[in-house]
Amino acid sequence: MNQNEAPSSQGFDAWISYFEANLARHDRLDALIPWDSVSTLPAPHIAAVARSLQRFELGESGDGTGLLSKARRRHDREYDAALRLFVAEEQKHSALFGAALSRFGAERLTAHWSDGIFVVLRRMMGLRTEVALFLIVETVAMEYFVALKHCADPVVQGVARRILTDEVEHVRFQIDQLRLGFASTPRPARVLAASLAWVLAVGTATALAIDHGPAMRVCGLNPVTFWHRALRHFGRALPLAFRLNRDETPLGPSMDPSAERLGRVGRVPARV
Ligand SMILES: [Fe+2]
Ligand SMILES: [Fe+2]
Repeated sequence: MNQNEAPSSQGFDAWISYFEANLARHDRLDALIPWDSVSTLPAPHIAAVARSLQRFELGESGDGTGLLSKARRRHDREYDAALRLFVAEEQKHSALFGAALSRFGAERLTAHWSDGIFVVLRRMMGLRTEVALFLIVETVAMEYFVALKHCADPVVQGVARRILTDEVEHVRFQIDQLRLGFASTPRPARVLAASLAWVLAVGTATALAIDHGPAMRVCGLNPVTFWHRALRHFGRALPLAFRLNRDETPLGPSMDPSAERLGRVGRVPARV
């Protein structure tokens, strides 16, 4: 071991195995998406859903350069490898959203205010804050992906189902990273960080409810209901991520991709 290398991060070998095994599962699920099917959505509904997917396509398209370079300063090869595999999964989500946009004849965005704010915040902050931002966005967006799964378009359904199962595990992955990052942080600082994260989560849920409200309605989800459920998801993750409970063990993945057992879709951590 290099003298600058930190001790191996407990639990991240399990994440590497999970992400690697998930590649074959992705191929199986992607093959089930009926790309050639004709959409039965009326044109105004297609416009609302496409407008929403454009923002997610852009938001998940980053190459993770900043995140990965911050992580490399930890000198932990196992953690770096798991993080690289996570970034690759997000890029595949972006590609799936992009393919759905092409089917609807909608262009990909090159910029949007919501993505711009997220990118600026990520660049300004350290690794823990960037991971916390991922946790906020992923927990808050979870209920929206559940709604997309019930959209009347079969491709949107297939893409949402495929991405949702990844996102449930991503939330657990962010929690494990934050638990590691906050391992030696005093409780008052963790409580303060958790409070700030809660404020950001409220802002993110509000922005999503407003910006993606039309697409939510198309998929049968009231934006106010979304807002409440989004914050409930984040509220479940919060005490785990910021070590506000006494449990020291990493969550690890809840799904074995090679056995095709699916995790609890739409629910955040399995163990509180
Ligand atoms: Fe994603
Ligand atoms: Fe994710």
